[in-house]
Amino acid sequence: MELLKINKHACGFLFKLVRMRYIGCPVMYCSSLGPKGEALSKLKYWKYHYKKNLGEQNEFDWLLNSETVSNSVLYQLSIVQGSTILDLGCGMSSVSQKLLKKSQHPIFVHSLDYVSSVIEHQKKLCSVVPKVNLSSGFDGIVADACLLPYKDNVFDIVVDKGTMDSLLKDDIKERRMQKFASLLEESLRILRPGGCFMQFTDEDPDIHYDILFIAIQKHSAHQYHLSFTSAGSEPYPCYVYLIKKTML
Ligand SMILES: C[S@@+](CC[C@H](N)C(=O)[O-])C[C@H]1O[C@@H](n2cnc3c(N)ncnc32)[C@H](O)[C@@H]1O
Repeated sequence: MELLKINKHACGFLFKLVRMRYIGCPVMYCSSLGPKGEALSKLKYWKYHYKKNLGEQNEFDWLLNSETVSNSVLYQLSIVQGSTILDLGCGMSSVSQKLLKKSQHPIFVHSLDYVSSVIEHQKKLCSVVPKVNLSSGFDGIVADACLLPYKDNVFDIVVDKGTMDSLLKDDIKERRMQKFASLLEESLRILRPGGCFMQFTDEDPDIHYDILFIAIQKHSAHQYHLSFTSAGSEPYPCYVYLIKKTML
């Protein structure tokens, strides 16, 4: 089992290297990523990454393009009939801009990351985006995804695209599991009943579904419903896991 996990990590890392090359992300950091890409779990790495990349490019989306993701988020938003969205660990993704550009209904989008330079970048881009609905709004927040500066029950949708993936690269198991639990707990805490956590990831359902399922059983104040589906049409597997929060 342990061997399988190691192989999976190694394969995931190879996949990511191929993908970085495939979609044009500079490969120069590979030597600093470590054997399983553990640098991706470090603030230091991301600060360096954005210092290098901001300016060279305006936007960059991991895993899935922002067109696919924003369509999927707006579809969920119509089901939960809400308007507040959090992009958790937004990086240079253009998901927030796409949401503002596309939503006919007034929405409020928060982009959050622990690197301040990308939040400044998101603020600049989102302030000039042509919004379909002029009442829609945006805010950028510098914060830790594992300790969110929001009250309980305030968001309709929380989007995580690649953020938990990067925390899961931590090479110390206890710390990795602690960060995983904190990110999930915090995301579910800030969701309003009826809201939905949408996780876009390449983590295989064979393992990831069970990990999420076990984690949500620990929450007693609300019930959660977990499902997943394949996402996008990229040349590698990608999934969206949905956790819907309901009243007990
Ligand atoms: C793999 S990138 C994904 C970026 C973006 N969501 C996308 O899909 O293109 C992970 C992002 O999560 C951010 N991140 C990682 N750990 C974080 C944490 N604990 N708190 C806030 N942001 C974090 C990183 O700075 C980085 O921007």
